[in-house]
Amino acid sequence: MSDPLERLLREQRVVICCGSGGVGKTTTSATLALKAALLGRRAVVCTIDPARRLANSLGLSELGNEVVQVDAARFAEAGVEVEGALFALMLDTKRTFDRLIERYTTDPKRREAILNNKFYQQMSNTVVGSSDYMAMEKLYELSEEGDFDLIVLDTPPTKHALDFLQAPERMKRAFDRSTLEIFLRPWAEAGKRSFGFIGRALGKVVNKVDALIGVGFVKELAEFFQAFEGLYDGFRTRADRVDALLRDARTSFVVVTAPQPLPLEEAGYFCDKLREFSMDLSAVVVNRVEQSCLGDPSDLRARIDAAGHEAELEAAVTAAGVEADPLLPAALKALLDQERLAKGDRERIEAFAAGPARGVHLREVPRFTHDIYDLSGLLTLSGELFGARA
Ligand SMILES: Nc1ncnc2c1ncn2[C@@H]1O[C@H](COP(=O)(O)OP(=O)(O)O)[C@@H](O)[C@H]1O
Ligand SMILES: [Mg+2]
Repeated sequence: MSDPLERLLREQRVVICCGSGGVGKTTTSATLALKAALLGRRAVVCTIDPARRLANSLGLSELGNEVVQVDAARFAEAGVEVEGALFALMLDTKRTFDRLIERYTTDPKRREAILNNKFYQQMSNTVVGSSDYMAMEKLYELSEEGDFDLIVLDTPPTKHALDFLQAPERMKRAFDRSTLEIFLRPWAEAGKRSFGFIGRALGKVVNKVDALIGVGFVKELAEFFQAFEGLYDGFRTRADRVDALLRDARTSFVVVTAPQPLPLEEAGYFCDKLREFSMDLSAVVVNRVEQSCLGDPSDLRARIDAAGHEAELEAAVTAAGVEADPLLPAALKALLDQERLAKGDRERIEAFAAGPARGVHLREVPRFTHDIYDLSGLLTLSGELFGARA
């Protein structure tokens, strides 16, 4: 078993897919979990923002935050048999946050006070930062429950790669008493500074909520911190454990990227940071790579010969009346455009492999002409990633 990506799926407990938005992270995460299930493991994919059709075909409902098992019948439809089992979950940031509050409040009155607090409701809903941490939190929760052999985590589309890796650290800072005190004093000022995710969330929330509820907000805010008193230590300890899980020997990262300059640049930055934080960067997946139709044009002749289509081809060309056919120049242009795209991708991938991704196992997936939204699509992608062997 020399395939590094397959080894990852067989041996690790946690695989985290990261990269910029729109590159195919969610699709790749689902494919890796599916492959692990085919390899006999109980695998769960924790998705963040699955396209609706993909969510549907995994059996995920709108409600989210609950693990569902992908029905054996769906595999049968797709013509495969799974030795293990595949589960999926759609992360709900707010519910995960609520669960965390429930976990750390033993007093039901206080629990209600927090959950009903307007400031809390805004903050836990604000995507800035909290979704990063809540993805980590959900990962930790799943890992603690121990129901699965492998957890594949899709990550939120973060603006900045660092945000996500440092989420536990920022969470800790957010629950640092001195930070909270700074908020409380000149509360209207607090949002303008940056103190971790609560700080930034607060900035947005202050502006938004204050316009809505005016002075009442100060009261809500004060009540929120009052209710939170005593929870900080629990939160900080937990953030420490989450951080430890990210660095665990059985946790690996897979960077997903597209072969365009911007995603590659972000992926490179991500690779650097993972190294810097001593987190295990196991593989890079370059998705949606444009393919060359011709390969090396000089061997086109040989390839036509080898394919045994020569006679057919010649007949077709004769029948088309080559020079007279207006379609031919257009077809040639399309072919050349495709070759240019493929060449551009090839050059950038080579530079990336020799640069930021040096020493890291790199896999390519071609750009398909269709979306991937069901098990068959995931199987196709799996075939590209792992070869035809299922
Ligand atoms: N190799 C590919 N070829 C063609 N379309 C793809 C490929 N990989 C992913 N897609 C499509 O691209 C879209 C974005 O993929 P997704 O996994 O949601 O990206 P991300 O999670 O990084 O934002 C989806 O519609 C998906 O079906
Ligand atoms: Mg996604």
